[in-house]
This record gives sequence, C-alpha cells and structure tokens, in this order.
Amino acid sequence: MAGASSFILSLLALLTLLPHPSFAGDIRHYKFDIKLQNVTRLCKTKSMITVNGKYPGPRILAREGDNLLINVTNYVSNNISIHWHGIRQLQTGWADGPAYITQCPIQTGQSYVYNFTIIGQRGTLWWHAHISWIRSTLHGAIIILPKRGIPYPFPKPYKEAPIIFGEWFNADTQAIIRQALQNGGGPNVSDAYTINGLPGLLYNCSKKDTYKLKVKPGKTYLLRLINAALNDELFFSIANHTLTVVEVDAIYVKPFETKTLLITPGQTTNVLLKTKSSSPLADFLMLARPYATGQGTFDNTTVAGLLKYKGSRKNLPLFRPILPALNDTKFATNFTKRLRSLANSQFPANVPQKIDKRFYFTVGLGTNPCNLNNQTCQGPNGTKFSASINNVSFVLPRTALLQSHFFGKSKDVYSSNFPYSPSKWFNFTGNPPNNTMVSNGTKTLVLPFNTQVELVLQDTSILGIESHPFHLHGFNFFVVGQGFGNYDPTNDPNKFNLKDPVERNTVGVPPGGWVAIRFLADNPGVWFMHCHLEVHTSWGLKMAWVVLDGDLPNQKLHPPPADLPKC
Ligand code: C2O
Repeated sequence: MAGASSFILSLLALLTLLPHPSFAGDIRHYKFDIKLQNVTRLCKTKSMITVNGKYPGPRILAREGDNLLINVTNYVSNNISIHWHGIRQLQTGWADGPAYITQCPIQTGQSYVYNFTIIGQRGTLWWHAHISWIRSTLHGAIIILPKRGIPYPFPKPYKEAPIIFGEWFNADTQAIIRQALQNGGGPNVSDAYTINGLPGLLYNCSKKDTYKLKVKPGKTYLLRLINAALNDELFFSIANHTLTVVEVDAIYVKPFETKTLLITPGQTTNVLLKTKSSSPLADFLMLARPYATGQGTFDNTTVAGLLKYKGSRKNLPLFRPILPALNDTKFATNFTKRLRSLANSQFPANVPQKIDKRFYFTVGLGTNPCNLNNQTCQGPNGTKFSASINNVSFVLPRTALLQSHFFGKSKDVYSSNFPYSPSKWFNFTGNPPNNTMVSNGTKTLVLPFNTQVELVLQDTSILGIESHPFHLHGFNFFVVGQGFGNYDPTNDPNKFNLKDPVERNTVGVPPGGWVAIRFLADNPGVWFMHCHLEVHTSWGLKMAWVVLDGDLPNQKLHPPPADLPKC
C-alpha cells in the first residue's frame, strides 16, 4: 500500500513538472549550434554566423500543442540570443529571446535551452537572432501543423514550400550598423534580396543561385512566405498565376485572391498556388522588390525565383510579373484592407470590446546631438539619426528587464513612466517641428493582468513620413482601424472593425497615417514592441510592456530556468 501511494505521489510530482497544464503534444528537441560558415553569393565569399552551418537556418517543424526544447550553443565570438517570432510564450517569457529584454545574451562557449509550448497557434512563424543585426544571417522558418486529425480550413495542398525573403550584404552587417551608430548617418544598404538564401538570375553572377519551385499541373501548393529582410517591406508576385491568401502571422484569414502581395519584415503569409491544368510552354518568374516610403536610400534591386512545371522542355519563354511601383502606398493600403480574420465558431476573433486603457503613440525618426570630437556627424544637419516612440528613444539596459522585474530589482534598470500619449502635441503629419531632438531612456508601461488595451500608432512627418512595420512580442493583436493624416479620437473609432479584423503580430503603420490595434494583456512578463525595420530598432524605435501576474496559478510567469544566461 505504502509503495503504491508513494508511486502515485511521485507520479503527481512528475505531472507538476510538465511544461504547461494544457500540454498535450509531443516533445521535440532541436540542437542549434551557432558557428561561422563561408557562404558565396554574387561572387563574394563571406564568413557568416549561422545555425548548424546553414543559410537560411534549419526549419523547425512542430504541431500545435508540442513542447519545444531548442538547445542553443554559441561557438562564435559575438553574443547571441534567438527570438521565436510570433510564438505567444504563455507564461514562458524567459524563452522569448530579445537580448537585454527577456534574457542576457548567450556568451561565447555557453548554451541555453529555449523551452516553450505552442498553445493555440498553428501556421507559419519564424525564428531569428534578436541582437544587433545578426538576424541578417541567423533566421529560419517555424512551421506549426494543426493538431493531429484537424484539417486546414482550406483545400488540402498537394505540397508545401517555405519561401523566405532575406537580404544579402557583401559586408559584415555588424560592422555596418556599428559604423552607422558611431557616425550618426544612415547605414549602408544591402547588395541583394534573396529567396531561401538565393539572389536569383537578375543579379550578376547569380544565375546558378536561383530558387526553383518545380510544380505539377493541376495541383494546389501551399507557399509559406516569410519576410526575414532587415530593412525592407516587399511586394511579391508570380507571373501569370493568382495567389489565394489563407493565413497571416499564423492566424487564418478569409481567403482572397491576389496577383501581388505585400509582406513587411516580421510578417508571414500563407498562400495557395493553384497550378495550370496542363504544363504550359513557359517558365514563370516569381519576383520580390521593395515597397519603400522613406527619404533614405534603400536597396532597389529585385530578387527572382523560378516557377517551373515538371517535365517541361528547356529554353522556354520566361514570363515576368508586373510589380507595383516602389512607393505604391495605394496598392499597400488596398491590399492590407482585404485582410480579415476567419472569425467563425472554430476560429473566433476575440476582439477586446471593453477597453480598460487607451494609448496614443507617435512613431518616427528624430535626431540626437553629435557626440564626436571635432567632427560633424553624418545625420541631418550634422546630428545623429535617432528614432522614437512618443519622443522617447529606447536605450537598451545592461541587464535584462525581465530578470530585474521578476526579482524586484528594476529600480536602477528601467522606469515605468513611458508616456501614454505624446508630451508635445503638433500636427504630426503636417509641417514637422523645428526641434527634432528626441529624449533617451529605458522606459516601460505596466499593465495589470487581463487589461484590454487599445493602442493607436501614429506616424510622424519628422524627417519624412514612412511606413513602420510594428511588432509586438508575447501577443497577437487585432488591427481594428487605419487611416491617413492624424488619428481623430472622436470620429475614427466609429469606423473600427470589431467583428472580423485581422489578427496578427506585425502591422504596418501607414506612411503619414495611423493604425489602431487592440490586445488582451493575458500573458505576464516583459514584452518588447518595436519597428521591425532593423535600422529603426537600432535607432531606438522600441519600448517594452510589463504585464503583471494574475491571481490564478496559470496567470503567473514561471520562475526562470536554471541555465538562463547571465550578463
Ligand atoms: Cu521578429 Cu522583436 O522581433
């Protein structure tokens, strides 16, 4: 008897060790070794930071409900941290990954196991390094299949293929951003865009480095698009084919057809590609090139992949899609307005209806004084480029925010007085003010558990209007409204879509306009929010939310794992 009861007790102890009460999937182990690898593109060889020597990095394949254990070991001289972009990380903020926000980086020779469970999510997400500009070479797909026996809410595809857009730099991206932050000017732009690591036949010396998608006629393919580029939103199209958008950021949407789509850094988009009923006498280019709205220079080149029908002859004519103009905001607006949540009984859109807290954040560029001795900086009028939210340019601390929050030692690390709304009001989308200087600080906003939040992100015209793809960690949000000019708190809310707005983790703030999002703060921890254009993040276009524990056990942040890296 005693033996049996102690057996039951140890069984119970074992059960409480399981990662999450709703855990019901498999345990999947991955090993990520961060190491240097020589890679040649555009006839230039460079030694780049990779996971397991791969570029792009390995694909993570899981099912909804699975527990992932990813053992990351750092064999390079740089500090590393990895973010699982779009994964909710319910109660497991320690595994989220942004350096100095939820963890100190993994130092050379050290390891850290990212341990998290995928709860209530299925679709395409991605992982990337979350420190400085290392994500240019350190990224890969996360594919989350629905639970066993649960079908997609669209026709079952014959085959699936990830399409990862990246940016290739001949030079070392770490050196590029270090130099730019020093002299205050804009960083050098990339030398090519890539599809699954390949620039494609429109670049010099790249014909053999072209991604080829070989298809059979009369079939449906699921393409999982991921924009892993550092600094550029992209238009994408395949010649003579129509795409059906079925999911964004691992949330199903009401399917709609389009020839061209827009995808910002941070976003993912699943599309169905229906092939022609018989093999056509042609090959088809798939192209991506930027949607660019700012004043600065950018890489305006075009990446190409090939859609080829199996068994088709050689030297067939090559069809080319027509992409929107580089600054076609009209196309961008019309495309994003078509995105709607599926919002059915199986996949409801739980839009917060009773808002507890409203925030109004201006986002845009600005300047900091030059701090070089006897030299002028290369930013506007001899200043240094900066960027801010409500005029606060975020300064990364030397230790991680989450630790200091959890152990009650935040006093010297961050303050909790990030402004709810701009401290100085002006016509945000009219003539910019003469003083473009930002203030600098490590400021956060504290939210009690289960706060229903509405946040309006307002672009400013300081140093030019520009689209900003905003990403929130730890949550999905609903995009309830958007518009141009200044947000009007009296009239604009009447036009909000509170029924089936798209739910996602990254949204473009329109150039010279605003976007309104809503989310439920049901995940305790410290959650980064930033522009996913890496140059803007580097300049300070970022902030963090501190979400407090709730009363119930499943509303509390877990204690930190024993191997959490130290600063
Ligand atoms: Cu994909 Cu904080 O980033």
